[in-house]
Amino acid sequence: MNGLGSVAWPPAPIRTERLVLRESEGRDRPAFIELFTSPEVGTHIGGARPRAEAERTAPEVPARRSGSFVVERDGAMIGTVTLVRRDAEAPERVRPEGGEVELGYMFLPEAWGSGYATEACGAVLEWLAGVLPGEPVVLTTQSGNARSLRLAERLGFTEAQRFEAYGAEQWFGVRPGSR
Ligand SMILES: CC(C)(COP(=O)(O)OP(=O)(O)OC[C@H]1O[C@@H](n2cnc3c(N)ncnc32)[C@H](O)[C@@H]1OP(=O)(O)O)[C@@H](O)C(=O)NCCC(=O)NCCS
Repeated sequence: MNGLGSVAWPPAPIRTERLVLRESEGRDRPAFIELFTSPEVGTHIGGARPRAEAERTAPEVPARRSGSFVVERDGAMIGTVTLVRRDAEAPERVRPEGGEVELGYMFLPEAWGSGYATEACGAVLEWLAGVLPGEPVVLTTQSGNARSLRLAERLGFTEAQRFEAYGAEQWFGVRPGSR
């Protein structure tokens, strides 16, 4: 998977009612380590990583790449929203040539249940519609990840396919491009 290819990066920070979405910085590293090592966050995405390993291997500025947004609330990172262009060879696809843009999200458990993910992902999708008008977006999440499925549906994704991977049923959804 790649970043967003030709799209200029980073954009100016995106401000919503309660949040700022911006590129990763060195001061976000402890919050990234919390995300990677949280059993709650890892439940449906392959599990938590051991803290010592995460501390040792996390880059000085984690996730500094095209399409990767840090979500900040009151000056502190609470999660991430990412857009990546999928490999053209990936078997699940919504257009014949594949290579769709895929949305991903991870928030610290203390930030769940307040609508922050909806607010952040909505702003990122709006930003994408500005830089790549009409681009459809796909999303993969375990069918058992109830919070993630509710979020996907709130954001306007609908089911395109279900498939088995990593020992669980996966939900593959699509959101048509907007302009
Ligand atoms: C997936 C994930 C981001 C969803 O988080 P979330 O807190 O449920 O989503 P939101 O931030 O949009 O919050 C929505 C909830 O806040 C409630 N809420 C409270 N105040 C709100 C407000 N002002 N606006 C909107 N919703 C609000 C909503 O009712 C909703 O609760 P409900 O689903 O119980 O009805 C989070 O569970 C997570 O990070 N999981 C781990 C990583 C993961 O599995 N990622 C998926 C891989 S793609």
